[in-house]
Amino acid sequence: MPRVTTYTLRKGSPAKTRTDVVVIGAVRSPGGDVAVAPGGEDVAAAYGRRFKPLLSSMAFRGDVGETLRVPSPDGVRAGQLLLVGLGAADAVDAHVVRRAAGTAARSLGNAASVALALPADDASLVAAAAEGFTSGLYSFTTYKSGGEPSSVSEVLLLSPLARDEDVLAALERARTVAEHVDHARDWVNTPPNDLYPESFAQRVVDLIGARKGKGPKVEVEVLGPDELAELGCGGILGVGQGSHRPPRLVRLTWAPPGATHHVALVGKGITYDSGGLTIKSGAGMATMKNDMGGAAAVIAATLAIGALGLPVAVTAYAPMAENMPGGGAMRPGDVLTMRDGQTVEVTNTDAEGRLVMADALALAVEQSPDVLLDVATLTGGCVVALGEKVAGLMGDDATTAALAEAAGRSGEKLWRLPIPEESRKAVVDTEIADVLQANWVRWGGTLYAAAFLERFTGEVAWAHLDIAGPAWNGGGASGHVPTGATGYAVTTLVEYAAGLVPAEPSTD
Ligand code: BES
Ligand code: MN
Ligand code: ZN
Repeated sequence: MPRVTTYTLRKGSPAKTRTDVVVIGAVRSPGGDVAVAPGGEDVAAAYGRRFKPLLSSMAFRGDVGETLRVPSPDGVRAGQLLLVGLGAADAVDAHVVRRAAGTAARSLGNAASVALALPADDASLVAAAAEGFTSGLYSFTTYKSGGEPSSVSEVLLLSPLARDEDVLAALERARTVAEHVDHARDWVNTPPNDLYPESFAQRVVDLIGARKGKGPKVEVEVLGPDELAELGCGGILGVGQGSHRPPRLVRLTWAPPGATHHVALVGKGITYDSGGLTIKSGAGMATMKNDMGGAAAVIAATLAIGALGLPVAVTAYAPMAENMPGGGAMRPGDVLTMRDGQTVEVTNTDAEGRLVMADALALAVEQSPDVLLDVATLTGGCVVALGEKVAGLMGDDATTAALAEAAGRSGEKLWRLPIPEESRKAVVDTEIADVLQANWVRWGGTLYAAAFLERFTGEVAWAHLDIAGPAWNGGGASGHVPTGATGYAVTTLVEYAAGLVPAEPSTD
């Protein structure tokens, strides 16, 4: 259980704020000189001429990611001062502040109260500080004996705009989104013996149940094997049949009155990917509990959109299955019939994601949404192409452009990849069925998978995010991104939905 942390927006001097730690930023000028960033001036002033020699004696350069914690000088009421690097003075923006606030959150020692005196002279900077700090405080300690979450219980955000209602609203919004990012991380980090289709679905139901009475609700439906059979979801059932843990499909509906847009989301929910009969190597399956990161992202984003009350209708589909090689498992050679009637020749049971996605995409299309976005830890090839930090983005020009724009605001990295005609042709190159699941050609496997998914998107505007890399951080924490599950795509999806809401006519 995370400790309750209160966030307060306040106008005031950081030097006079009585907290355990006060956080200020440091920037570098083109000449390499280190200076205090806007917001922290009076703390630096308390040092007077000793400020710069202190930094240089500690070899503190003000680079992004750098920190320095020192006892505070006379004239500063906080016990300790935490300096965080913001990099080049002329490049400080919301993305830099988000990262720096995340770094600060992880550098507080045992502090219970902290004041953030980072650049905060517009709403987006305050929101970025709150988002980055909340996100950076995350740790997953459920399975650690005596594991304690962060000790921070009080956060003061110092801003000259503290009394501005828009700034306060931006702060609240950032906190809500960051909380939902944490839900996605928790689900992904939970070991697969505890998080399997039935229990994953139940956690979503419980989370929504816990919100009863707190405003309009997101509706949730959980479909089990019988209902999936009735609907003809041969892909979800096929993948799920090798496991003792039967599959589920979770459908979320957020239908605010007066919505002018309807967004459908689909997320891959493989709670564990052993590869099935086409079994993975030991190393290959080591982190495969993260194979439901797409489902976690679309569910968390939908709940965040609901919690924010955004006037955009959202239907989210999360097909959940465990890909195991049990006696009932699907075989290479099997032909499955998907929800929309297309038949698929199975050749590699490790290409299971596209099978569960096909049914869910087909169901989403039946509702004729304005746009369809899917998120999946789909291919290892995407990690080879773009590395562990950057998602692959495929789909039509307009939808990919809009999603890329949203990612530009959320600070999540993605890169467009094509769906070439050759891939579209390869996907139908089968003697026995309508569609070939996988062709054992390694080259361009990410594009092949996208061409496969595309066949189930009908005429709907569509974008596909392959998050096989960024869903999981196999290295150390960095900025606001923790080690392990990252919650990638939640903030971008919420930004996308927020971007559909027409700006309110100005009243001045
Ligand atoms: N879940 C994996 C993709 C993956 C790999 C995610 C590495 C994260 C890190 C997916 O189900 C898979 O196994 N894909 C295969 C497809 C192939 C068999 C056509 C792959 O990419 O190797
Ligand atoms: Mn697989
Ligand atoms: Zn998989």
